[in-house]
Amino acid sequence: MSSREGPSRFVAEHVRGIPYSGIRDFFDIVQGVPDVISLGIGEPDFVTPWRIREAAIYSLESGHTSYTANMGLLRLREEISGYVAQNYHVQYDPQKEILVTVGVSQALDLALRATINPGDQFLYHEPCYVSYVPSIDLVHGCPRQIHCTEESRFAVTPQALEEALTDKTKAIVLNFPTNPTGGTMSREELEAIAKIVRERDILVISDEVYSELTFEGEHTSIASLPGMKERTLFLHGFSKAFAMTGFRIGYACGPAELIEAMMKIHQYSMLCAGTASQEAAIEALRHGRDECIAMRDEYKLRRNYIVEALNSIGLSCHMPRGSFYAFPSIASTGLSSKEFAGRLVKEKKVACIPGNAFGPSGEGFLRCCFATSLDKIEIAMERMAAFVSEVRDGGSK
Ligand SMILES: Cc1ncc(COP(=O)(O)O)c(C=O)c1O
Repeated sequence: MSSREGPSRFVAEHVRGIPYSGIRDFFDIVQGVPDVISLGIGEPDFVTPWRIREAAIYSLESGHTSYTANMGLLRLREEISGYVAQNYHVQYDPQKEILVTVGVSQALDLALRATINPGDQFLYHEPCYVSYVPSIDLVHGCPRQIHCTEESRFAVTPQALEEALTDKTKAIVLNFPTNPTGGTMSREELEAIAKIVRERDILVISDEVYSELTFEGEHTSIASLPGMKERTLFLHGFSKAFAMTGFRIGYACGPAELIEAMMKIHQYSMLCAGTASQEAAIEALRHGRDECIAMRDEYKLRRNYIVEALNSIGLSCHMPRGSFYAFPSIASTGLSSKEFAGRLVKEKKVACIPGNAFGPSGEGFLRCCFATSLDKIEIAMERMAAFVSEVRDGGSK
């Protein structure tokens, strides 16, 4: 029986065309290999700080097991408003301009669904988070890449943006600090982008999920620049900085009309984010700052170690200024990203993600997540050094 005759004949054409994530493909390979050190999965190795977990437990103990308002608990929206004003210097009205979501993932999905007409062109910068292109495809938008390079520290340059723009461009998705490169953009760099965006009347969807994990300088949100709040959807969440991936909680801030449009979809599809997660998020914003800073400082130590180790192995690696990813070039080994990552896991039991999982611009790179203990990173680097030297020796035979 051909697959079109089986149950898969019911699957929508545009879903059939969506490839599996390169990360998932890779994890299928990794799963069969025992004792692997994983620098693969992009998630904190820390357990959620106790006070936040306790708030979730208390929420359940108190019997708070019902739906909340579609927009999310007002107390949480008020906390978000204060937090965003203090840390990102943009003021959002908790009544109309903030929507609590199931992670940044849902905020992104709602933002795209609320703004894309079939055929609208959405720009994204590559290498990029694996969800952007399929998410745009799924709502019948046209994704178009802005190619970012190591030379420009994986920032979006005005020239690259101008080259990607067409008459059909409606919006641009920005993600700084970036998964997978750790690239960041300074205020001056963002100002140059914002100028073009204003001139061309483009919407910005800004995914700032790694913003607290900025190691050098101050993180600037493009939403805070003059004339940008009214054309930006600011997406954020708790997964990375507060180590709350399993809580599935995030939020979108933006102009009331756009939040209202997202809310309409949210109320019919999700209703609201989990109640215990919302109460835990309130605690994170009220009292989680110190734990957040402690985790960031620990990531910074690991970053300094891994970047130096990679460079000393001869895999040139720029210094990621944010996120918890190092993105070394493996081009000097003569292997493709997939070959390098595949052989590394089989021969040395170290799992990293091939750079091309993040789009064709990632070919020749490897994503190494340093949200794992320093002991493990040290062993992983020893094994990688041995692997690279064997590849080089093999190559010269
Ligand atoms: C850039 C980026 N945005 C969004 C997400 C998803 O975040 P959340 O857990 O809040 O849905 C991730 C997760 O890896 C990410 O890397």
